[in-house]
Amino acid sequence: MRTSYGGSVSDALLGQTVTLMGWAHRRRDHGGVIFIDLRDREGLVQIVCDPDRPQMFAAAEQVRNEYCLKVTGLVRARPAGTDNPNLTSGKVEVLCHEIEVLNPSVAPPFQMDDENLSETTRLTHRVLDLRRPSMQRNLMLRYRVAMEVRRFLDRNGFIDIETPMLTKSTPEGARDYLVPSRVHDGQFFALPQSPQLFKQLLMVAGFDRYYQIVKCFRDEDLRADRQPEFTQIDIETSFLGETEIRTMFEGMIRSVFQHAIGVELPAFPVMPYAEAMARYGSDKPDLRVQLELTELTELMRDVDFKVFAAPAAMADGRVAALRVPGGAAISRGEIDAYTEFVKIYGAKGLAWIKVNEIGDGTNPAELRAALQSPIVKNLHDRALAEIVRRTGAAAGDLLLFGADRAKIVNDAIGALRVKIGHSEFGKAHGLVQGEWAPLWVVDFPMFERDGEADRWNAVHHPFTSPKDGHENWLETDPGRCLAKAYDVVLNGVELGGGSVRIHRAEVQSKVFRALKIGAEEAQLKFGFLLDALQYGAPPHGGIAIGLDRFVMLMTGADSLRDVIAFPKTQRAQCLLTGAPGHVDEAQLRELHIRLRNVQPA
Ligand code: AMO
Ligand code: AMP
Repeated sequence: MRTSYGGSVSDALLGQTVTLMGWAHRRRDHGGVIFIDLRDREGLVQIVCDPDRPQMFAAAEQVRNEYCLKVTGLVRARPAGTDNPNLTSGKVEVLCHEIEVLNPSVAPPFQMDDENLSETTRLTHRVLDLRRPSMQRNLMLRYRVAMEVRRFLDRNGFIDIETPMLTKSTPEGARDYLVPSRVHDGQFFALPQSPQLFKQLLMVAGFDRYYQIVKCFRDEDLRADRQPEFTQIDIETSFLGETEIRTMFEGMIRSVFQHAIGVELPAFPVMPYAEAMARYGSDKPDLRVQLELTELTELMRDVDFKVFAAPAAMADGRVAALRVPGGAAISRGEIDAYTEFVKIYGAKGLAWIKVNEIGDGTNPAELRAALQSPIVKNLHDRALAEIVRRTGAAAGDLLLFGADRAKIVNDAIGALRVKIGHSEFGKAHGLVQGEWAPLWVVDFPMFERDGEADRWNAVHHPFTSPKDGHENWLETDPGRCLAKAYDVVLNGVELGGGSVRIHRAEVQSKVFRALKIGAEEAQLKFGFLLDALQYGAPPHGGIAIGLDRFVMLMTGADSLRDVIAFPKTQRAQCLLTGAPGHVDEAQLRELHIRLRNVQPA
């Protein structure tokens, strides 16, 4: 029997005999003495094998990397000067009395402590990859987070109720994963994009406070912070308003941070969507970055510079500046690289001004001479003076400009802001501050315009309630309607989002109409919800927090793949099992499916 985890053997066990089970992380032969780093889920411990026990020593000589071992030995202090402060067991070692190979291992395809493995290698050999200490730590933290969430919700009267995986489409804005029905020829289930409709039905059913830590499925283009199947902490409550819901779940997030990693988060500022877009060009601003956009649109309408004047005159145009304090030190080469960077977001260029000594800025000729830039000649005196005044630019600064449709300016300059903030330059100049920057973004618009399709789309989802008094615009001026919707953002990542729901059938029907979802279509797709809303549905609302993203932020990982045991690749495949794969003709026949282009295996 094991007496303790090797990774947690410490000086508290000095002088005791322990029995450990684990894997040989590394074996070093030091001329007569063999050292084995034994690894288990708690970490590493050094095993010392002396030749004065010949049988044990012979066994130790056979050990290779990743052999599964049982070791019995005496815990003793390491010789002076050989402590390893990075390990819990770093002050001690285990003098081996007995070693048993429980199972040998073939040579692993990579060194377990190689930090530069390709993702393909890691995901193909995921079992070994998961043995690595960082992955063990990440998945154990994930468990701790989930436990703290359950503890908090249980204390607050929330109950866990399961909802179906084989269901109808829920409109969260992504493509559905479909499952063919064998019994019903030509019909399909959709895997849930979220349990949204079911949790609302549970409120109508009177359960009052629901939660679930639940898989959601979305067939969308993947990024580092998106997986096709991911996990939500999904919550719904009756009888609480927007502020009460936010307060409660801010409490949950703070409590989880405290208990899981000992971090005391700062209070969450609350920022309207419009302000976030104006100041940061993003509805999920990274508030650690101390840079802001400055509005110049109306100022640029009458300049003799088409690049600025044309977008300034457009209904959906924007001209904005980003002031980078000290940025005059940024080289032309780097500005060129930033120009390429903003093109990813559709920007056509990146105008810039380097600011030299400007005196008091009141003399136009002096001011003009102090601004070093290819665009200054195109701007009149008042525009230059206003740019300097509004941005607060001082000698040594760099001003960068975006001018285009507002969406492009926001995407491009918003991303540039984060990129410069976190660059070596940004770090050296104090442009990023603090470790954790949470906030709520509120007052989202109900709808966004889909120009191509000439229609409005729901920004959150179509069950979100308009702000009080905004219902009347649903039919007359949808673009003006704000929603009782909120996102919680941490360090520039959208951690979660939710809303107060529509609980009256007639308001729900109005919203469907605004979205050009006809009565018949609404009945077909959401008839069960509209029906339920008629039976005294309580006011209700909720939130869903991405568990994967939550843990990714806590661990500092760059990708969701580092906090999911068996994730999918960028191309939505599982390299470990080879899913998705072909199926045979008989299975397809049962499902009434004939493939268009591919012959069945
Ligand atoms: P929403 O679509 O905003 O809201 O999703 C909530 C949270 O889920 C996480 N998330 C993802 N994580 C990883 N990979 C993905 N592909 C992915 N998509 C979303 C994010 C996001 O903030 N039903 C509503 C919630 C509600 O209104 O209560 C919903 O699903 O962290
Ligand atoms: P041009 O007149 O095209 O040579 O552009 C002058 C400067 O404006 C260059 O630095 C371009 O990178 C920049 N620029 C061009 N288009 C835009 C735009 N849409 N937004 C911001 N800067 C731009």
